[in-house]
Amino acid sequence: MASALTLFLPLLLILSSFSHKLAVVATADADAAILEAPSPLLADGDDDGGFIKGIVRSLLQNDRSTSEEADGATDGKPQGSLYETDFGIFDRGILGRAPPGVSSLTNNVPETLNVVPGTTQVFVFEKALIFGREEEEREKQRDVELRRREAGYEEGEGDDERESGSLDLEDIEDIEDGEGGTEGQPRLSRRQSNNSTTRTVYFSANTCIQPQLLSPTISGAAPQLTMYVSTTSENISPGPSSNPNHQKWYVFEEGAVMVALNVSSDVYIGISAPNISTTMLSGLYNFQLAASVDDYYHSYDNQTDANLIWVDSDSSASLLITHNLTDSTDAVTDNDIMNVQPYVMFAQNIDDRSADGVRFSYCGLQTYAQIAATKNGKFTSMVTTGMTLAGLGNLPKQQFYFSGLNASSSYVGILAALPQNGTGQIGSNVVGGGGKVARATSFQTKATNANCEVIFDLPFCNETAYAVPSNPTRFTNATQLAQVYDKYASDMFDIFTNVLAQIPCEAPDTQRYSLARTCADCSAAYKNWLCSVAIPRCSDFSDNSTWLQPRAISQPNPITGEFLAPALAAQFPNTTAFNSSRNPFIDETIAPGPYKEVLPCEDLCYNLVQSCPSDIGFSCPQPGYIGFNTSYGQRSEADENGFVTCNYPGSAHYFSAGPVGPQLSLLAVALVSVAAVMLM
Ligand SMILES: *[C@@H]1O[C@H](CO)[C@@H](O)[C@H](O)[C@H]1NC(C)=O
Ligand SMILES: *[C@@H]1O[C@H](CO)[C@@H](O)[C@H](O)[C@H]1NC(C)=O
Ligand SMILES: *[C@@H]1O[C@H](CO)[C@@H](O)[C@H](O)[C@H]1NC(C)=O
Ligand SMILES: *[C@@H]1O[C@H](CO)[C@@H](O)[C@H](O)[C@H]1NC(C)=O
Ligand SMILES: *[C@@H]1O[C@H](CO)[C@@H](O)[C@H](O)[C@H]1NC(C)=O
Ligand SMILES: *[C@@H]1O[C@H](CO)[C@@H](O)[C@H](O)[C@H]1NC(C)=O
Ligand SMILES: *[C@@H]1O[C@H](CO)[C@@H](O)[C@H](O)[C@H]1NC(C)=O
Ligand SMILES: *[C@@H]1O[C@H](CO)[C@@H](O)[C@H](O)[C@H]1NC(C)=O
Ligand SMILES: *[C@@H]1O[C@H](CO)[C@@H](O)[C@H](O)[C@H]1NC(C)=O
Ligand SMILES: *[C@@H]1O[C@H](CO)[C@@H](O)[C@H](O)[C@H]1NC(C)=O
Ligand SMILES: *[C@@H]1O[C@H](CO)[C@@H](O)[C@H](O)[C@H]1NC(C)=O
Ligand SMILES: *[C@@H]1O[C@H](CO)[C@@H](O)[C@H](O)[C@H]1NC(C)=O
Repeated sequence: MASALTLFLPLLLILSSFSHKLAVVATADADAAILEAPSPLLADGDDDGGFIKGIVRSLLQNDRSTSEEADGATDGKPQGSLYETDFGIFDRGILGRAPPGVSSLTNNVPETLNVVPGTTQVFVFEKALIFGREEEEREKQRDVELRRREAGYEEGEGDDERESGSLDLEDIEDIEDGEGGTEGQPRLSRRQSNNSTTRTVYFSANTCIQPQLLSPTISGAAPQLTMYVSTTSENISPGPSSNPNHQKWYVFEEGAVMVALNVSSDVYIGISAPNISTTMLSGLYNFQLAASVDDYYHSYDNQTDANLIWVDSDSSASLLITHNLTDSTDAVTDNDIMNVQPYVMFAQNIDDRSADGVRFSYCGLQTYAQIAATKNGKFTSMVTTGMTLAGLGNLPKQQFYFSGLNASSSYVGILAALPQNGTGQIGSNVVGGGGKVARATSFQTKATNANCEVIFDLPFCNETAYAVPSNPTRFTNATQLAQVYDKYASDMFDIFTNVLAQIPCEAPDTQRYSLARTCADCSAAYKNWLCSVAIPRCSDFSDNSTWLQPRAISQPNPITGEFLAPALAAQFPNTTAFNSSRNPFIDETIAPGPYKEVLPCEDLCYNLVQSCPSDIGFSCPQPGYIGFNTSYGQRSEADENGFVTCNYPGSAHYFSAGPVGPQLSLLAVALVSVAAVMLM
C-alpha cells in the first residue's frame, strides 16, 4: 500500500515530481506491443470529380442546342431534361392532363430541368394528384379486401368507379364541393369529414447548376431563379410576363425556395431564369422542382442552431460531430442507429466563392461545394465519416473528419440530412427525399507548422477526440500518434487498477469507503482525469488566449527544427511548467516542441478526489495556490461562445447551451475534508 501511495500522491500534486515517477513507468513500457489500430471510419476513396465535369459538358452541349430556339421564350416548353425522370409504374397517359408543353408534377417525385437565362419552365400539379389518386388506389384495394371479408356489404354505385381504377375530375369536384358521395360511399364521406376542400401542398426547388463567372476577378454570383405560382386557370403559364394579379412569385434564396399553399385546384408553377450579363456570366441554370402533399421535398433551415459541432482542428484537418441523434440509450442497444449515417456534409473555404448562391441547395452544394462528404452517393477521399458514442451522454452522433484543408484558414461546414438508409442516394418517391440543408457552422484550421494533430477513435481513451501535441517527423500519421498516446494512458490505468484492487471498495456497505461512490465510480473518474491529463489538448503556440499554458518552450519545433526566438522565450518564466510538457513521456516519446495546452478542467480532479477512497491519497491543487494555474483550467463564459477554455472528455466548440460542470461550491467543501486526511 505504501508504494501505491507514493506513486499516486505526487501524481496529483506537483507537476515535476509526479512526472518523474510516471516517466519510469512510461519508459519501461515504451517498447511494449502496440495496441490494436483504432477502428477506422467509413471511407471510400472514390473521388467523383469527373461526374461534375460530365454534367457541365453535357449542359454546354444542351445549351448550344436549345439556345437558338430559346431566345425570349417564355412559352414554358421544357428544354432538354438533364435526367430522365423515373415514373415507375405511373405513365404519362394516366397522369398527364397537363396542357401541352407543361410538365406534370407527381407527388414527391422531383423534376430536373435546364432553364436558359431569360426563359421560364412551366409545370402543373394537378388537382387529381393533390387530392390523392394514389391514395385512392390504395383505399380501393383496402375496400376490396374489406368487402371480401364482410360478406353482407352492399356495393354502392361509386364502387364501380373505384374498380375502374380512375376517378373522373367531376367526381373529385363533387367531393370538393361537398356534394355527392354521401350515400353508399364510405370512402368519400370519410374524406369529407376531414374537410378536404383544400389541401396543403408543398412546393420546393433547388438550383443545381447556375451560370458561372467568366473570370474569378469578377465579384458577385449568378442572380437567383424565381418561382411563379398560379392557382387559377386564367394563368396557366405563370412567369415574369404573365398578369401579376393572377400569380405570386418567390425569389430563390441561396439556390432554394419553399412555398406551402392551401389549394383546391390545379397549381401552375413557373421556374424563371433571369437575364444575365453576358460580360459577367455564362452558362445556364439547372434546377430540381418537386411538389408534395406530405412535406417539403427539399428544405433548408437557416434559423435553428446548426446541428453540427466543431470539435477541433489541426493545420490540415478538422473533426466535427452532429448533435445527439437520439435522446435515448435504448436506440443504441438495438444498434440500428449505429449502422446508418443520416447526414452528409459539405465544407467550403470562406475565401472560395464557388458555392455562393447555392448554399441552401442540396444539389447545388453537390455540384459546387469545395469539399463534399459524398458526391453522387460516394464518399470522397477528403472525408471520413462514421457513428460515434463519444462525448457527453454517450449518445449516438455522426462524426466527420475532413483532411486536406489549408492551414490558418476559415471554413464553413454545412450539414444536410437525407431521409434514406445511409447510402447517400437521394430518394425519388420519398417524402423529403431532396435533402434538408442546415445552417452553416464555422471552423478554423491551425497555423502552418503547428505541432498539433487531431486524433480520435482511440480504443482506451474512447472519449478523447481533439488535437494533441505531435511530431510529424516521428509519427507519419495520426493513427500512429493516437496509438502511442492511448497505450501510455492505458498502461497508466492498469497500474491504477492494481492499486484500486487493494482497497476494500467492493466490500459490504459497512466497510466501503463511501456509501455514495463505488469502485466503478472511482475507476471512471480516474479514467476521465487520466485521459485528459495524459493526452493534452494542443493549441497553436501563436494563440495568445489567456487560458492556454505554454509548454516545452525550450525545445525545438520538430517540423522547422527551430527554437523559439529568445525575445519570445524570455516572455515566459524559466520554469519546468513552461520548459517541458505536462509529463516527460510527451517530451521523450513525442518531442513536439513548443505548443500551448488547453489545461484539463479542475472539476476532473475534484471528481476524482470525491469518487475515490481517501486511502489512495488523491488531492488537487486549489485555485490561487502554487501549481494550480499551470495544471488545471476553469470553465468560463467563453465556453458558451464556442471556446474551449479547459479540456474534458467530449470537449468541443459549443455555443450557448454548453455543458455544465459539477457544482464547484459543494466540491470545495468536500475538498476541505479530503485535505484534512491527505497523507504527505
Ligand atoms: C430578358 O431579356 C429579353 C430580351 O432582352 C426581354 O424581352 C425579357 O423581358 C427579359 N426578361 C426578364 C425576366 O427580364
Ligand atoms: C386529414 O387530413 C390530414 C392532412 O391531409 C391528414 O394528415 C389526416 O390524417 C386526415 N385525417 C383523417 C381522419 O383522415
Ligand atoms: C372546411 O374548410 C373550409 C375552408 O377552409 C371552411 O370554410 C369550412 O368551414 C370547413 N368545414 C369544416 C366542416 O370544418
Ligand atoms: C392551410 O390551412 C391550415 C388550416 O386552415 C392552416 O393552419 C395553414 O396555416 C394553412 N397553410 C397555408 C400555407 O396557408
Ligand atoms: C443565415 O443565418 C445567418 C445567421 O443568422 C446569417 O448570418 C446569414 O446571413 C443567413 N443566410 C442567409 C442566406 O440568409
Ligand atoms: C468507453 O469505455 C467505457 C469503459 O471504460 C465505456 O463505459 C463507455 O461506454 C465507452 N464509451 C464509448 C463512447 O464507447
Ligand atoms: C448529448 O446528450 C447529453 C446528455 O443529455 C448532453 O449532455 C450533451 O450535451 C448532448 N450532446 C450534444 C452534442 O448535443
Ligand atoms: C487551399 O489554398 C489554395 C490556394 O489559395 C486554394 O486554391 C485551395 O482551394 C485551398 N484548398 C482548400 C481545401 O481550402
Ligand atoms: C439502402 O437502399 C439501397 C437502395 O434502395 C439498397 O440497395 C441498400 O441495400 C440499402 N442499404 C441498407 C443498409 O439498407
Ligand atoms: C499510419 O502509419 C502506420 C505505420 O507507418 C501504417 O502502418 C498505417 O497504414 C498508416 N495509416 C494510414 C491511415 O496512413
Ligand atoms: C501573441 O503574442 C506574441 C508575443 O507577444 C506576438 O508576437 C504574437 O503576434 C501574438 N499572436 C497573435 C496571434 O496575436
Ligand atoms: C533557465 O534556468 C536554468 C537553470 O535554472 C539556466 O541554466 C538556463 O540558462 C535558464 N534559461 C534561460 C533561457 O534563461
